[in-house]
Amino acid sequence: MQVFYTGAEWQKNWLHALQSHKIIGFVPTMGALHEGHLDLIRNSKKSSDITVVSIFVNPIQFNNQEDFDKYPVLIQQDLKLLEKENVDFVFMPKLETMYPEKPSISIQFGELETILEGEFRPGHFSGVGIIVSKLFHIIRPHQAFFGQKDLQQVAVIKRLVADLSFPVEIITVPTRREEDGLALSSRNLRLNSEERAKSLILYKSLCSAKNELLEGTNWLEVRNQIQQRFEEEPLAKLEYFELVETEKFTVMNSFDSSQKASICVAAYIGNIRLIDNLPINP
Ligand code: PAF
Repeated sequence: MQVFYTGAEWQKNWLHALQSHKIIGFVPTMGALHEGHLDLIRNSKKSSDITVVSIFVNPIQFNNQEDFDKYPVLIQQDLKLLEKENVDFVFMPKLETMYPEKPSISIQFGELETILEGEFRPGHFSGVGIIVSKLFHIIRPHQAFFGQKDLQQVAVIKRLVADLSFPVEIITVPTRREEDGLALSSRNLRLNSEERAKSLILYKSLCSAKNELLEGTNWLEVRNQIQQRFEEEPLAKLEYFELVETEKFTVMNSFDSSQKASICVAAYIGNIRLIDNLPINP
């Protein structure tokens, strides 16, 4: 496994030799790797010849300073996991390498900016769009792998790739869950044992809402029931519980089984913000 720290190193030593005859798969991460990331890596290893993983906690996508300050950093453990997965290359740029200066541009994603994560995390998707563009320009992968847990991020990145004609195929990998259903996330490391137990309210709410919808209950009624359930749980604070069309990520006010739909949730458990989603008709 080869670790590199600048785009110049990658381009001078490896990219040109590999690009013409190898499929380069890319898994961008912010580290604190878990089985969900490893699923992305295993998918990349299956469908690409070379797998590059980046680890970079991107400050400009955090709209909350405390979330950034407390974001788990576990470099040695991450490198061991990557070595074990036989990853070919790891890109670990320094902050000054990625942002010698604060970027002067921002990227707007239209409607996607105003709903769900876009509404509750102003500037977040611009930060994601900028870092993913920079990483794509540096690594120049043929394929890039993203987790379905961040469903709106997937929609944003597909728009980025389409709008800016990046020659990259975006591949979405299903959400990995703990045995009890909690979606894996680096932020789960920050939950104490009581919060960890209460965090199941997200997955349980998604499952019961999906069942209700499939039994024919009206979406707005389903959402009301879930909002009440959150109100009764003092450790949890619901931000949104929405039904969306899965591909374009537009909000739906009623369930239409002819369209691919997913339910998305964001909630604080204590001080930790978690998100999750469940496809209704995959
Ligand atoms: O999903 C993430 O971990 C981040 O948003 C990403 C895509 C690595 C960009 O920083």
